[in-house]
Amino acid sequence: MKKTIKLLLTLVVLVIGITLFGCRGNGNNSSKELVVATNCEFPPFEYTDKNGKSIGIDMELASEIAKILGYDLKIKDMSFDAVIGALEAKQANVAMAGLTISEKRKESVDFCDPYFDAFQVVIGLKSSKAMEIDNYDDLIKELEGKKIGFQNGTTAQYFVEGDEGWEFPGINGAVSKGFTSGAAAIMALRNGQIDYVIIDKVPALQFVEKNKEEISVNIDVHLTEEQYAFAVQKDDKELCEKINAALKTLKENGKFTEIVNKYYSD
Ligand code: ARG
Repeated sequence: MKKTIKLLLTLVVLVIGITLFGCRGNGNNSSKELVVATNCEFPPFEYTDKNGKSIGIDMELASEIAKILGYDLKIKDMSFDAVIGALEAKQANVAMAGLTISEKRKESVDFCDPYFDAFQVVIGLKSSKAMEIDNYDDLIKELEGKKIGFQNGTTAQYFVEGDEGWEFPGINGAVSKGFTSGAAAIMALRNGQIDYVIIDKVPALQFVEKNKEEISVNIDVHLTEEQYAFAVQKDDKELCEKINAALKTLKENGKFTEIVNKYYSD
């Protein structure tokens, strides 16, 4: 009898042990994936090549960071205004999307260390008045009452429409026109449906380069000063620290500059 009890007890302990160990094993496996929320409509940070592969500065950084951390990489391409929500819904554990740090967004997600300086600029037809202006006040005056396009959910939208959280007063009388991508906004500009597009400077330069006979970008005036950072789920300090450490390694070993220079030169 005693023997049977002993055997039973051993068995119970064993089963508990295996269950606990098994669970931990699973937990580890699932957290070994870097699930990246992004919007591949933002060259040179994220866009798709002819074969549908996600490429660009952020995408290469994502893959280098995953390599350093020993994580599998999964890219989830979605509309830009869904990126923050994907983190909140825990459908991704990091956002890498040329994402600007803002106090408003900090209410929903945590930002890792900044890695790139950014500015909003104005794109217009070559002949448009805004292309000749060299100061902020006159440029804002020219934008007043105009039809202005931007990608939905981006800094540019808040800048045009005004937003307390972003501390933007908005542009007087401007008619705001949201598009699913910067490219769609540029198309509308070329078709005469809108007067100007506001978008981040480095993507602006790339969009204009493709259509330089028709459109131009005013690089003399920066409408905003921003910084990009990767974002994680609120309070996921552990992942943020890991990402920051990996980013530091990539800066120190020259890989970061190599990636940026591959896609963009000043
Ligand atoms: N920096 C701007 C923002 O955070 C635009 C980012 C757009 N990114 C993209 N992948 N489409 O709002």
